[in-house]
Amino acid sequence: MNNFWQTIHKPIIALAPMEDVTDTVFREVVLSVSDPDALNVVFTEFTSTDGLCHEKGRSKVIERLLVNASEMTLLKSRNTKLVAQIWGGDPEKFRLSAKLISEMNLFDGIDINMGCPAKKVVKNKSCANLINYPELAKEIIYATAESTHLPVSVKTRIGFSKIVTEEWISHLLETAPKAITIHGRTRKMMSNGPALWDEIGKAVTLRDKLCSKTLILGNGEVFSYTDALNRIEQYGVDGVMVGTGVFKNPWMFNTERVEITVNHRIELMRKHITLYQNTWGNGKDYNVLKRFFKIYLNGFSNAAHWRDAFMRAHGYEEALHHLDQMEKQLQALMVL
Ligand SMILES: Cc1cc2nc3c(=O)[nH]c(=O)nc-3n(C[C@H](O)[C@H](O)[C@H](O)COP(=O)(O)O)c2cc1C
Repeated sequence: MNNFWQTIHKPIIALAPMEDVTDTVFREVVLSVSDPDALNVVFTEFTSTDGLCHEKGRSKVIERLLVNASEMTLLKSRNTKLVAQIWGGDPEKFRLSAKLISEMNLFDGIDINMGCPAKKVVKNKSCANLINYPELAKEIIYATAESTHLPVSVKTRIGFSKIVTEEWISHLLETAPKAITIHGRTRKMMSNGPALWDEIGKAVTLRDKLCSKTLILGNGEVFSYTDALNRIEQYGVDGVMVGTGVFKNPWMFNTERVEITVNHRIELMRKHITLYQNTWGNGKDYNVLKRFFKIYLNGFSNAAHWRDAFMRAHGYEEALHHLDQMEKQLQALMVL
């Protein structure tokens, strides 16, 4: 097995799996403005094992595992690892899904979601609800690991309705996953309140006490590269995973800390729209793309006006036209 988790440059900085966000397009956009050592693992959106094992449903679900050739070239050139994240509640479906994913020859690892708090998933014995079914969680990890040569990791929380960090993480460690990412909140906390990094620190102490080789990544409210490095130092984690921080600043994995100009914003937004159009065309809801616009449309005069105009645009052509107009207007105002 090629366990990249052990050989990869440390500290590890990972882009979190995010549904409707971290598709091949967004990953490539972020990678294109990040330094190789400041972002070295990226995750897919979570993908249903039920869907992957369903003959008819598979073709839709598998879109989440699409990897553009241009993204793959970028990943290889910078030695950044790509991990497919899967979720479900049936060990046999994990077994089959892991085999399928391995045979795709696109991914460096498989991650099991044991953290998603959404009602639609926790009503079954899956995602964060697996914290309540630790034996099933174990079976799922073993079934996945048995059917793949790829390293298997877990992303989870510190508890379901109450904090049970040590009990839950020691249980997971018994299965020797190659890495565990811990979001420092319980399922009950959803995304509210501060992420409890002290709990993540406790998991590291426990891992060390047990002499386990499993890497621990911390997750929750990391908003800059410096912030990531500080957390690594303070809590002893092997790495940090960043989610929503990247919406505020997609350039956050750029260690040169160049000033982000309006030109940078326009350039990246154009890349994002064009890549999204070329990848998905009409095959994916255009409105999903709209959610990203506010990332780029801020920090310059008249940004609010343009945000409004872009939100009202109906498709790629109109959005790209707005972008040209905005660029011209800003050039005339000598902002660029
Ligand atoms: C829009 C969105 C989608 C998400 N989708 C997933 C997912 O597919 N799998 C997963 O493990 N976590 C998912 N998460 C949780 C994030 O990976 C991360 O754990 C959480 O946002 C906390 O990290 P942050 O404070 O850096 O954002 C999602 C979060 C957001 C905001």
